[in-house]
Amino acid sequence: MCGIVGFTGNKQAAPVLLDGLAKLEYRGYDSAGIAVRDGENETEVIKEKGKLRVLAEMTDNGKAVKGTCGIGHTRWATHGEPSAVNAHPHASDDGNVIAVHNGIIENFQEQREKLIKKGYAFHSQTDTEVAVKLIDYYYKKYSQLPIEAIARAMVRIRGSYALCVMFKDYPGEIYCARKDSPMIIGIADGESYVASDVPAILKYTRSVYYIGNMEIAKLEKGAVTFYNIDSEVIEKPLTEIKWDAESAEKGGYEHFMLKEIHEQPKVIRDTINSVVTDGRVHFDSVSLTDEEMQEIEQVYIVACGSAYHVGMDLQYVIEALTSLQVRVELASEFRYRKMTLHRKSIVIVISQSGETADTLAALREAKEQGIKTLGIVNVIGSSIAREADNVFYTLAGPEISVATTKAYSTQLVAGYLLALQFAKARNEIEEARYDALLAEINTIPEKVARILEDKERIQWFSNKLINVSDSFFIGRGIDYAIGMEGSLKLKEISYIHSEAYAAGELKHGPISLIENGTIVISVVTQTGLIEKTISNMVEVKSRGAKVMAVTTAGNYFLEDTAEFVCYVPKIESLFTGSLSVIPLQLLSYYVSIGKGYDVDKPRNLAKSVTVE
Ligand code: G6P
Repeated sequence: MCGIVGFTGNKQAAPVLLDGLAKLEYRGYDSAGIAVRDGENETEVIKEKGKLRVLAEMTDNGKAVKGTCGIGHTRWATHGEPSAVNAHPHASDDGNVIAVHNGIIENFQEQREKLIKKGYAFHSQTDTEVAVKLIDYYYKKYSQLPIEAIARAMVRIRGSYALCVMFKDYPGEIYCARKDSPMIIGIADGESYVASDVPAILKYTRSVYYIGNMEIAKLEKGAVTFYNIDSEVIEKPLTEIKWDAESAEKGGYEHFMLKEIHEQPKVIRDTINSVVTDGRVHFDSVSLTDEEMQEIEQVYIVACGSAYHVGMDLQYVIEALTSLQVRVELASEFRYRKMTLHRKSIVIVISQSGETADTLAALREAKEQGIKTLGIVNVIGSSIAREADNVFYTLAGPEISVATTKAYSTQLVAGYLLALQFAKARNEIEEARYDALLAEINTIPEKVARILEDKERIQWFSNKLINVSDSFFIGRGIDYAIGMEGSLKLKEISYIHSEAYAAGELKHGPISLIENGTIVISVVTQTGLIEKTISNMVEVKSRGAKVMAVTTAGNYFLEDTAEFVCYVPKIESLFTGSLSVIPLQLLSYYVSIGKGYDVDKPRNLAKSVTVE
């Protein structure tokens, strides 16, 4: 959570910082601040509670702040309420050290008390102020060398951090340190940049360095030097970013979410094409061999949020196509479970950002037990991508809206291809069925596009949800997994209380909550289970619920039970999730904007949850 940006060069820094922070606002948006230095002059610190636009107004979009070296921050509060005092940057009382931070310092209380004994005073409730003062303490106590002071503080600090620090004695320089929180460093002619994520600097440069865990960097105008924790200089490779800058802009759409919903046909196609050539799935880029796939007996899919829902869907697909056993786990639970993993297993972690703290910890836990790991990841060079044994990159491009849509869809299709490849490598699928399933996967982009063409019907229906306070999503099998995602989408951006239930579970509790006008959204695509779910729809309808259904074209009889039916094109049953989720994404979007909410930045949420 939180976004950080830094710049040193020859142009005015503040507009660059504000521009970069705007691209990172999805990471947090309860307060924001910048610190900019004009040559040898005092550093100017400006920070305020509220969204970035407040800071932009205070500084005339940065134009009013002089100086060519600075750091900026957009915050998602962890320690201390959102306020100007708790907003970053934080500084030592004499302005010797000024820093912004993303992450959590777990032992901040203990370090704070030690520093108070040394005479330091604290003004905010943040853990960041502790880091700043600890660096200041070591700087003054020892050699007055920034790298050494930071390295000493890093040894004392437990937790996660991406830190950008400026020192009074070193104008024009920014020092960065990282452990388990994302941070990239960009370089251009006479200019250096640092940011939590690529979109923040993409406008200025495509040449980036990935700073590793427990490493430090010194940024000067157009030059970067890297150090390890022993303050020794280390070399890092320069990487070229291939994304185009436009994919991180709204491109004519009113909101990022709507733009990203519409990008789905293309990014699903790109993800398929990345591993399918000549009618075959090739996993060279994933580097998982047929022999490895043959040996595996157990699959664990571990993820958070929507990525977990992808896993919920994939378990049905993998188990239907192979003899593999699949367990789907929430990363936050998995990481603390005292569980001996099956020796012949693979842990598949799914993550858009590749930085979700719990998912990363789960991956490390699996590796510690010596289990093979595979990451389905969107962000190239992210921590999970770097640490997993094998990586299947989804090609969703930058996803800005906090509520995921296109990353979810690419993860799902990546999972289908993985399931198919497992079946093939293990000789568990006939050639003709393999060809037929791959052909079906290839129809998904065009079928998603068809659903999007008919979005006005869903927009019309969304009005019926504007004033409701409770809703339920029901379904069986894959339809249940999609209901979970639909329910999460609705609650996270429209703030309507929503629960997803396996339809068969309704009678075990939730039916007691059904009363006149309760909304029940039913996903009904799984041949063989349709009649059973219809019975559940009838049960809730007879108790006053307003029932909506998402089903496959041809199932017109659902109109007898549901007040509103949304049809998706026909497709092989195993892959219906890719289609039935689309109307649910659109529904949530329209309800949210209908209620006048900030759909791309829902309250209390952040796009990457890099803290526990
Ligand atoms: C947050 C996002 C979700 C996402 C989840 C997991 O809650 O809002 O959209 O599904 O984190 O994130 P990841 O980056 O690991 O996929």
